[in-house]
Order: sequence, then C-alpha cells, then structure tokens
Amino acid sequence: MQIPAKPIFLIGIMGCGKSYWAKRLGEHFGVPVFDTDFMIEEAAGQTISEIFAGPKGHERFREMERKLLQDTTWPLSSIISCGGGLPCYHHNMDFMLQNGFVIWLNTPLTVLTRRLWKERDHRPLVAKAQTITELENMILGFLQERRPFYERAHLSFDEVPDESIFFRNIEALSAYPPAP
Ligand code: S3P
Repeated sequence: MQIPAKPIFLIGIMGCGKSYWAKRLGEHFGVPVFDTDFMIEEAAGQTISEIFAGPKGHERFREMERKLLQDTTWPLSSIISCGGGLPCYHHNMDFMLQNGFVIWLNTPLTVLTRRLWKERDHRPLVAKAQTITELENMILGFLQERRPFYERAHLSFDEVPDESIFFRNIEALSAYPPAP
C-alpha cells in the first residue's frame, strides 16, 4: 500500500463525516490525524461556541482558522479534518490545493439533516433551528454558498462511501498526484 506523500485535507459541510473518515484514514495508513476545530479550541482555551459568542466572534474564528492552516507545517503524510467553513475564507482552498490532496465529502442532505438535528446544540451555526425543515433550509443555504469552493477539491464522494472504495480511491491519489 502506498501512503499519500502529501497531507490529505478532508472538507465538507458540518456533519458530513470528516472526523469519522479522518480517524479511519489515519488508522488505515498509520499516519497522524489532526482536527482544525480541536486545535483552535486548544490554542484559544475556549470552545468554538464561546469563540463565536465573543466580540467579532465569526471574524476572529475565521482568522484563527487561516493562521492555523497556513502557518502550520503539516506532516507530509497526515490527515486533516477541516472545519466546514474553512475552505471558503482567506484563500484557504488555494493553500490546500497547492500543499496537499483535498477530498470533499458531499454527503446527501437527508443524512446531514438527520445527524445535525441530534447535534445542533453544539453547533453554533445551526443551533437556532427550531424544526427539521428549518435546519434543512439552513444546510441548503450553506451548501449553495460553499459549493463553488468545495467543488474545487481533487476528489469528491457524493454518497456515504463504502470503506474499501474510499481507501482505494485515496490510495490512487498517491500514484497519480493531481496538478494543483
Ligand atoms: C463551521 C463548522 C464547524 C466549526 C464551526 C463553523 C462552519 O466544524 O468549524 O462551528 O462554518 O461550517 P465542523 O464542520 O467540523 O462541524
């Protein structure tokens, strides 16, 4: 098995399965796994919800994401689970395309809605949703806004992938490194 020789950035909307797949890929390839939300919380000593609730919370959070992504020397073989909005600010997508492999988990809306409904209390951007329909409309709004960024990824999965297919496709990236 060939281990990808560039960092792999997993992107996609909240609830698409980035953390799960990052962990599975890390185990499969035997490489370190990072999570940008977790790293920001550690550095700030605050939860994401607390950062968002503070003064200029959204702006501050996006700047923290930019700094973390673009100032970190990511190990060549590593997996990075990125916050859902990260690819859409401060040329972060350009950075990831130039420095790694970018994988978009384009998980179906019904799956996203089901997952996020259960977790909405911990997710500041959708915490206000009162009904499932309201939540679904919020997710649709994000998807519409973010699709142009996400779809620049080197590779995307439009369904919840079968594990062996997922690993095989990502291993193939190592053999045929895509041009930025
Ligand atoms: C966000 C997604 C969250 C987190 C923050 C903002 C977004 O990460 O970074 O709440 O803008 O979509 P996950 O996608 O890992 O939940």
